[in-house]
Amino acid sequence: MRFVIENFGCQMNDHDMEKMGSVLIDQGHLPGSMDDADIVIVNTCCIREKAEQKFYSLMGRLQHLRRKKGTILGVTGCIAQQEKESIFERLPFIDFSLGPSNIHRIAEAVENATGQVRTSAFGDDGCSPSLLIRPHNTRRGVKGYVTIMKGCNNFCSYCVVPYVRGREESRKSGDVLAEVREMAERGIVDVTLLGQNVNSYNNGNKDLSFPELLSGIDAIPGISRLRFVTSHPKDISPELIACFGTLRTLCESIHLPFQSGSDRILALMNRGYTSSEYLGKVEALKDRCPGIALTADCIVGFPGEEDGDFEATMRLMETVRFDGVFSFIYSARKSTAAAALTGRVPPAVAHERLSRFQKRQRAITLDSNRAMEGTRVEVLVEGQSKNSPDELSGRTRTGKIVNFRGDPGLVYKLVEVDIIKGYANSLRGELPDTPGR
Ligand code: 5AD
Ligand code: SF4
Repeated sequence: MRFVIENFGCQMNDHDMEKMGSVLIDQGHLPGSMDDADIVIVNTCCIREKAEQKFYSLMGRLQHLRRKKGTILGVTGCIAQQEKESIFERLPFIDFSLGPSNIHRIAEAVENATGQVRTSAFGDDGCSPSLLIRPHNTRRGVKGYVTIMKGCNNFCSYCVVPYVRGREESRKSGDVLAEVREMAERGIVDVTLLGQNVNSYNNGNKDLSFPELLSGIDAIPGISRLRFVTSHPKDISPELIACFGTLRTLCESIHLPFQSGSDRILALMNRGYTSSEYLGKVEALKDRCPGIALTADCIVGFPGEEDGDFEATMRLMETVRFDGVFSFIYSARKSTAAAALTGRVPPAVAHERLSRFQKRQRAITLDSNRAMEGTRVEVLVEGQSKNSPDELSGRTRTGKIVNFRGDPGLVYKLVEVDIIKGYANSLRGELPDTPGR
């Protein structure tokens, strides 16, 4: 049968989608399109209200497919986990629902559906076996992702993740290293380690710490680039900071969500740091690794956020000069502590703050891209442009997109590129006439 996986949400979800696709291919199914699919799986995210609304409107449209062609429909991921059995009341036409820790049961769920048997699983099966699925790397060429830990113990007051992804659990370092070695043998050169909170990898376990794991991966022949997401500022240790500029493969970039620049709001968010502690970590990272690219997440309109709090957020953003920030309007999530807080910010005020923030950040991002004009950087070529075959696209070690003209034979290679122009979301480059000029 042919299958399609519609995906919402984070990089963890992208990776879960690859894992499910691999399990289904191993069972003899084939990837398809919406037009010819016999099975449609919707992998969900509930971190913000918008993602949830998009999911329910998609399900409304899929119901017609089901009526017309009898398509098998399944829901996986965080909304499945959040709603548990009650999802079948709201969406009575679906065949299965699996939480994020249960996606290894995807083939069984499809098999059951062919016999009209409904499957549901929302247990916390820990690190095995959903984390142990090794996806075929069909989509991403020489880039690969490895989940090193799952869940989160931080309970930031706005966040639903600890409720839907469960408590933190780390995979054994031996398993992670074996998986990366295997990836390197298959030609993967760029590895991203995934987890809700990778800095607390193996916290309290007698196993490698996170910096030790990074060193272990750094020593694997064939790996050129190593990254990790997501980090919590309170857990960035001096040992981790020392890895930057020391480990050959560790890319000069870090995603470090700050969420707010106001200490009062950070306390209400239960983030466990103040703005000056955050800035201290940023300074230490910049000292250790000049030119490090910093990206972050930020929430505006958290309950009780006043003009002065928002100004503190603007100040923090101006001080750090991030390469990019994902910024969101707060949305109240089921079961979270913040959902019970008073002092809701009127939507018009929250929108106005968000657009001010984004406008200023766009200008800072543009400045930082322009500052790269005239430099020569290493680019991992990821593919050709759809419109013109000799137009290539790749990424710098700092995660910036570079477009340049070159031979399609360079795809998946590491090349040196001269940056000639910085734009809002990408860089324009050209291959040097004389390499090493
Ligand atoms: N409302 C708005 N943004 C949120 N995030 C998490 N929960 C919420 C929420 N309830 C944002 C945070 C987090 C990112 C993945 O999503 O900024 O870092
Ligand atoms: Fe959510 Fe906070 Fe955990 Fe990140 S650290 S997943 S924001 S609870």
